[in-house]
Amino acid sequence: MLKTPKDLSSRDVGAGPGQPDELLLSDRQYRLWAEMLENKTGVRIATHRDDFVRRQIVRRVGELGFDDVDDYFREVSQSGAGSREWGVLLDRLLVKESQFFRHQASHNFFKTRLMAHLQSPQQEQRYSVCSVGCSTGEEVYSLAMNAFDNYVSVGQAPGFSIVGIDVSSEAIESARRGVYPNRHLDSVPRERLDRYFSEASSGSMEVNAVLKKRVGFFVSNMFDENCPGFASPLDVIFCQNVLIYLKNWRRRDLLNSFVAKLKPGGYLIVGPGELNDWQPEGLSRVAYSGIHAFEKPL
Ligand SMILES: C[S@@+](CC[C@H](N)C(=O)[O-])C[C@H]1O[C@@H](n2cnc3c(N)ncnc32)[C@H](O)[C@@H]1O
Repeated sequence: MLKTPKDLSSRDVGAGPGQPDELLLSDRQYRLWAEMLENKTGVRIATHRDDFVRRQIVRRVGELGFDDVDDYFREVSQSGAGSREWGVLLDRLLVKESQFFRHQASHNFFKTRLMAHLQSPQQEQRYSVCSVGCSTGEEVYSLAMNAFDNYVSVGQAPGFSIVGIDVSSEAIESARRGVYPNRHLDSVPRERLDRYFSEASSGSMEVNAVLKKRVGFFVSNMFDENCPGFASPLDVIFCQNVLIYLKNWRRRDLLNSFVAKLKPGGYLIVGPGELNDWQPEGLSRVAYSGIHAFEKPL
């Protein structure tokens, strides 16, 4: 029989009957989980999410019927099956919130730069983009809509590809499906809904094949050098609402590692307020109102 969180024996936990289940995880145990999450993904748990994260871990221990939180920790951190279980847990712990055209000025900048590319002598080269920490796909499809519109407006076949990567397999599955509830589509203008979406059921719409063909989604860690999103040189790396979860030194390491992945003339677009004045070595800050982006010199 599966044990519920209340059945758990907890050597150094100290929870009694009737107490909230998050108390079943001691501070020592919680620190181990928080450290593992940070070591594997870079993500630091914000203090206001501590209780939520504790509850999720304890709930999972109960679902699987482990006798002790430490046994579950060992299972996740050491065994081969642990990595699968780690994936399940990650899906519950990470913040995966996203929106279409979330930061409009950044999307406008992307559209302007792609248009400049289409009017340049390099126009025939494939335009390659990676969305890092793409969550459920809204960012990737927003970029794809802008890119598609640009190619159509200059009368060219769409010669671009956009890859989204995220460490959450649940998020990537949802991104691949490309089905969104109508209330999630408020920030997509009507004419784009007509052009790029079809009704999936009452109350939700699905991205059309024409856009899906231009995008790819991969479960991958952005710190992994073999991440499929970085397989070929990129014109744009779009990385928004991800850096905020990382310590400063990790943000810097990550962004420095992006420099080599950009083509000369490529852009790194981060979220406003996610970096201070620091800039990655070898890139220069772009002057464009309301955004935070860098260019790799030609
Ligand atoms: C708040 S969402 C941002 C989604 C999207 N970029 C946006 O701005 O709407 C942050 C995403 O980063 C992902 N993430 C966190 N650490 C990651 C890592 N090490 N590698 C890849 N993705 C990661 C999370 O799973 C989550 O889906």
